[in-house]
Amino acid sequence: MKALILVGGFGTRLRPLTLSVPKPLVDFGNKPMILHQIEALKEVGVTEVVLAINYQPEVMLNFLKDFESKLGIKITCSQETEPLGTAGPLALARDKLADGSGDPFFVLNSDVISEYPFAELIQFHKSHGGEATIMVTKVDEPSKYGVVVMEEETDKVERFVEKPKVFVGNKINAGIYLLNPSVLDRIELKPTSIEKEVFPRIAADNGLFAMVLPGFWMDIGQPRDYITGLRLYLDSLRKKAPANLASGAHVLGNVLVHETAVIGEGCLIGPDVAVGPGCVVEAGVRLSRCTVMRGARVKKHACISSSIIGWHSTVGMWARVENMTILGEDVHVCDEVYSNGGVVLPHKEIKSSILKPEIVM
Ligand code: GDD
Ligand code: MG
Repeated sequence: MKALILVGGFGTRLRPLTLSVPKPLVDFGNKPMILHQIEALKEVGVTEVVLAINYQPEVMLNFLKDFESKLGIKITCSQETEPLGTAGPLALARDKLADGSGDPFFVLNSDVISEYPFAELIQFHKSHGGEATIMVTKVDEPSKYGVVVMEEETDKVERFVEKPKVFVGNKINAGIYLLNPSVLDRIELKPTSIEKEVFPRIAADNGLFAMVLPGFWMDIGQPRDYITGLRLYLDSLRKKAPANLASGAHVLGNVLVHETAVIGEGCLIGPDVAVGPGCVVEAGVRLSRCTVMRGARVKKHACISSSIIGWHSTVGMWARVENMTILGEDVHVCDEVYSNGGVVLPHKEIKSSILKPEIVM
């Protein structure tokens, strides 16, 4: 089977992290978001993943080359010369996706995190015999998403409304699809939205079905959702693979510490924390609800909560970093500095406190 991951878009809502790497390569739970997806696809027998990309394909491919051989899966790029939206890229990659086998193929938004129940999705798709299956999940604020109205008994989608202005329901498109090759005949090679143009038409032809996604789901394309997503992801790890989580007197709740990270004496870490490869957390540090990315250093007695510390950044002694502070790559927060919601662009040095949420350029 084949899969296409939509990795276009500039990831503006996840700046400053996406100033350093494309959104799918931003670390989540100690590895790039997209690896979570590729690993899960590999597990259900996908042999080739096509990355639908509209800028910097080299960065992605160079990075993923290592994983191609490690995971034993083919990873190729399909590059747009202009952004083709969420459906146009399928037409562009037509020859790769319709390989003559007649098998359905996966399509994923690159910024959604879940337990990726792909085996169940395949099963469900086969059982209804329709042209396309989308996974749906319930959320409290459906207006930010594509909303799906489905027939409870048959799971058939009656309506698909992208970012509705009025309430139509609370089941939303999770950005995970399994499509028959015939869907490709519905898409022209031009900028097209799968949500606004393709799904409503398949639904009108009675060929679109929806499966309620078991387990957690989050679009982690913006900082607040990213931090919530980490909590949900770690909760799920606690149930599925608790041995991967840290334990000990210094750990509170669910905490992921990379094997190459070093944690000093007398720290208190958790809940809902990820400490990435090569990080150094010095003595007496307090971390909660945060991600510390690869190569970062947190100096003695610093306190970080509800924040993201970008790659190779440092947080000084007695510094206090909180309330959705996002440090880009290689940012240095000096000793005793306070950050309340600072969003700091890469390679900056922060010498004085940031007292209210603001962007520091
Ligand atoms: N290749 C390519 N080209 N990819 C694109 C383009 C493009 O022109 N535009 C967007 N994408 C990719 C994004 O990188 C992302 O992986 C996916 O398409 C969806 O785009 P987002 O910008 O993240 O959309 P959204 O979050 O507002 O809404 C979408 O996701 C929701 C679930 O998170 C829609 O699919 C909604 O229906 C859905 O509920
Ligand atoms: Mg999104």
